[in-house]
Parts: sequence; C-alpha cells; structure tokens
Amino acid sequence: PGSLRLAVIPGDGIGQEVTAEALKVLEAAAPAGVKFEPTRYDLGAERYLATGEVLPDTVLEEIRAHDAILLGAVGGKPGDPNLPPGILERGLLLRLRFELDHYVNLRPSRIFPGVTSPLSEAVLAKGDIDFVVVREGTEGPYTGNGGAIRVGTPAETATEVSLTTAFGVERVVRDAYARAQQRRKKLTLIHKTNVLTYGGAIWTRIVREVGTEFPDVAVDYLHIDAATIFMATDPARFDVIVTDNLFGDIITDLAAAVTGGIGLAASGNVNPDRTAPSMFEPVHGSAPDIAGQQLADPTAAILSASLLLDHLGHADAARTIEDAVIGDLAARAGAEARRTSEVGDAIAVRVAG
Ligand code: NAD
Ligand code: IPM
Ligand code: MN
Repeated sequence: PGSLRLAVIPGDGIGQEVTAEALKVLEAAAPAGVKFEPTRYDLGAERYLATGEVLPDTVLEEIRAHDAILLGAVGGKPGDPNLPPGILERGLLLRLRFELDHYVNLRPSRIFPGVTSPLSEAVLAKGDIDFVVVREGTEGPYTGNGGAIRVGTPAETATEVSLTTAFGVERVVRDAYARAQQRRKKLTLIHKTNVLTYGGAIWTRIVREVGTEFPDVAVDYLHIDAATIFMATDPARFDVIVTDNLFGDIITDLAAAVTGGIGLAASGNVNPDRTAPSMFEPVHGSAPDIAGQQLADPTAAILSASLLLDHLGHADAARTIEDAVIGDLAARAGAEARRTSEVGDAIAVRVAG
C-alpha cells in the first residue's frame, strides 16, 4: 500500500511511444490503495545532442531514490555524425545497469495462444515453449574493458576484454538455480567454454558447485553456437538458461523471434539484493526504421510493466496485465493491424474490465 515512485525514461524512437502505453496500462492495473508517482526523465539522443549530457550524476542519484525504473529504449538515428554508436548505450543504459547492480537480466519467453511463430508445426509439436533466460548483466565484454591504439592508421589495433569474476558468476548462477527450482527444475548453462577457456572455467566450476545446493535441478550445458540450433529446432527443451552478458543478448533476440517477435519480448534488469531499484524495459531497441509512426507493438513494454509490478510484490496486478495481454494476443489473429496507442487502449480496457 501507499505510493510507488517510478522513474520513467522513455528514451528514443519507439521508446517514447511504447512507454506511454505501458504507463497507461500500469495506471489501469494499480492495485487498490496503491498510487503511482511517475517522474519522467528526458534522457536520450535529444538531450545529448542539445546539451552534451547523457546521464548526469545528480540525475542518477535522483533515479536511485525510486522504487523501480521503467525504460523505453535508447539509440539515436543511425549514422548521425553527432551521435557515435555507444554514447547512449554505454553512457545511459549500461551505466544504469552497472551502477544499480542489475546483475540478473531476466528475459522470459513463451508462445502465447494465438501468436504466430515462425517455427514449423513439427518443431511446435515437440512441446510447450516456456523458458526464461537469466542473462548476467554487469560483466562480460560489456564493461568497457578495452581500447584502441594507432586509430585511423593501417596498424589500428583494438581490444575488448571480457570480464568474468567468480563473485559475479556465483550470484547470477544461484539466482538462476532458484528460479529453476520454482519452475520445471532444469537449468542450461550456455557459454563457449571450448574457446573462452578462462571465463568458461569459472562458469563451469560454479555451476557445478552451486548445484550441490539444488540437487533436484537437472543441469546441462550447450555451446552458444549449438544453442542457437536448439533455439530454432527444439526450444521446448529449455526451462531456465543462464549465460554471460553477450551470449544472453544474442540468444534473447533469437528467443523473441521464435516466440512471436521482438514486439512481445519483455525484460527486467533486476537487482535481487534490492540495494537499488530494478529497471524494466522491452528487449527491443529504439527501432529508428518505424519510429514516430505509431507502428510499434507496445506489448513488450506492457509485459515489462507486468514484470515491474511482480518485482514490487504486486503479483495479482502483474497477473492482471499478463492476462489482459494474453486476451489481446488471442484476439489479434486475423484482425487488422492497429496503431501503437490502439493496442495500449485495448489492453488497458481489458485490465480495467
Ligand atoms: P531494434 O530492436 O530497435 O530493431 C530491430 C528490428 O525490430 C527493426 O526492424 C524494428 O523496426 C523492429 N522492432 C523493434 N521493436 C519493435 C516493436 N516494438 N514493434 C515492431 N517492430 C519492432 O534493434 P536495432 O535496430 O539493432 O537497434 C536500434 C537502436 O536501438 C540502436 O541504437 C541500438 O543500440 C538500440 N538498442 C537499444 C536497446 C535498449 O534500449 N534496451 C535494445 C536494443 C537496441
Ligand atoms: C539489449 C540491447 C543492449 C544490450 C544494448 C543497446 C547495449 O541490445 O538490451 O538487449 O546489448 O544489452
Ligand atoms: Mn539486445
């Protein structure tokens, strides 16, 4: 009960459009006695191009004082000479994930009834597709541990070092085991231990060691390349996947594609220790190719709002949103395409009804 302070960062491109719909649905789903207090933060390409600011320290500290963060997407127009790639991704999105210790990047995937999957009937007949990727969120090649020398010369040389710590692996692996125990008790480690032998050794050892605390969870291992095969040919085999930051990024776009499209894929950047607010956002980006035209599917952002409510302990309200989405998805089959706001309106009406 009481008020929930939400930091809202719509960001760039379709981030603006889908976040408006997620907020609309959140308001409609507010549990009795709970009042949302959204604070909007205008961070992203526009602010950077106008002021040079990406995420001022004072703004980060304000954001930190909220109960949760709802984010749309970041990323400006491709090829803009004033906005090199990475400025916003690193300076805003990854900085939030790192500073707020979002070490569990939770990305659930399932095929909802009525949703068209590009998978063949033969693949779909293998079983229900319902899994969750626990992507490590604070390490791997994402930490900015690298550099370049002799830039612009024929001898230009660059490194990007992947960071793996036993501490970082252990905490995310334990979280993944706990989730598997609450689900179908199956954990798959995805890595590339045949090439990335140093970091891979840490993942392999810790998955084995932590496994002794979860004797009822069955564990298997796939190299990332083979994992993409199974994601396309037998995704029903997965329950909980635990993986490094970069492999998790790639496998979750594929997971989204096989379970109905990137417009449906939700995520939570979770700080399980609750030392800082967690952040909820669609898996997709700012989609400059369709931005500003009300063509984006806001479902991923709306399902991310459901994950947000669940994280804050409002499981019933979270479920109400999910059920409304499931109803809307079933009604989409064969119907005409709708504008972003029309999809949000329809889901909000189901939530309220
Ligand atoms: P993207 O996810 O933005 O788009 C990939 C394709 O999917 C595009 O064709 C797009 O139109 C489509 N798409 C995405 N979301 C959709 C939706 N809700 N409804 C319908 N179609 C949708 O990925 P990209 O093109 O590789 O990246 C664009 C920008 O976004 C880049 O600057 C990138 O760095 C950034 N990005 C940000 C995030 C984030 O903020 N979390 C995630 C991914 C990419
Ligand atoms: C995602 C995005 C980000 C990532 C980028 C924009 C930094 O692709 O959220 O999946 O790689 O994590
Ligand atoms: Mn991604």
